[in-house]
Amino acid sequence: MNREMKAVIFDLDGVLCFTDKYHYQAWKAIADRLGIYFDEKINDRLRGISRMASLEIILEKSDRQYTLEEKEVFAEEKNAQYQKLLQQMSEKDMSDEVRQTLAELRHRGYRLAVGSSSKNAQFILRQIGAVSYFDAVADGNDITKSKPDPEVFLKAAEKLGIAPEQCVVVEDADSGIRAAKAGNMTAYALGGDVRYSGEKDVNLLSFSDILNYL
Ligand code: BG6
Ligand code: MG
Repeated sequence: MNREMKAVIFDLDGVLCFTDKYHYQAWKAIADRLGIYFDEKINDRLRGISRMASLEIILEKSDRQYTLEEKEVFAEEKNAQYQKLLQQMSEKDMSDEVRQTLAELRHRGYRLAVGSSSKNAQFILRQIGAVSYFDAVADGNDITKSKPDPEVFLKAAEKLGIAPEQCVVVEDADSGIRAAKAGNMTAYALGGDVRYSGEKDVNLLSFSDILNYL
């Protein structure tokens, strides 16, 4: 056990499971209807950020302005479609590697939490059979500021009753790494092209690589 660290806070999408393709399909349906160009590269920019902030990025390619009311309708439509797609998720959507690593971290005495920008996090955790691994969940319903603001991770640390300095955050998105650093936490980057700095921070080779540092 790493004596300095007492808890591990996991991002959900892109770390514990993968929902990118569902976000993509749901946003794509709206973008196509509005005649706005949208591709998977733009979808990558939506990682870790809130639903409304995602919509603003999609609308960058539109030649007209939309009112807040119109944007709220689009966001709701996207979410209804996204939730339909999420129903097909199951325990198969969380790998054995992730399950075994979480179980081992618990065995080593760490407190575990989820820190996700998604308002659908609890539903996804239930779908993939992940609820019992975690002592706390902080998600999009608990916060007013999305990553890269540290609010969601600070909330998770508070729910765990552990000081931010004793928390490791595992993230796949640049916005999440920046949020962890802004919250005075140690950041472990998993995949992607996230930027990280600081001597205690780590670029993980795989999910189970976490066990080599904690
Ligand atoms: C994050 C995703 O987990 O949740 C983002 O990486 C998404 O792409 C955000 O925009 C908000 O999700 P939701 O489920 O609240 O629309
Ligand atoms: Mg993520």
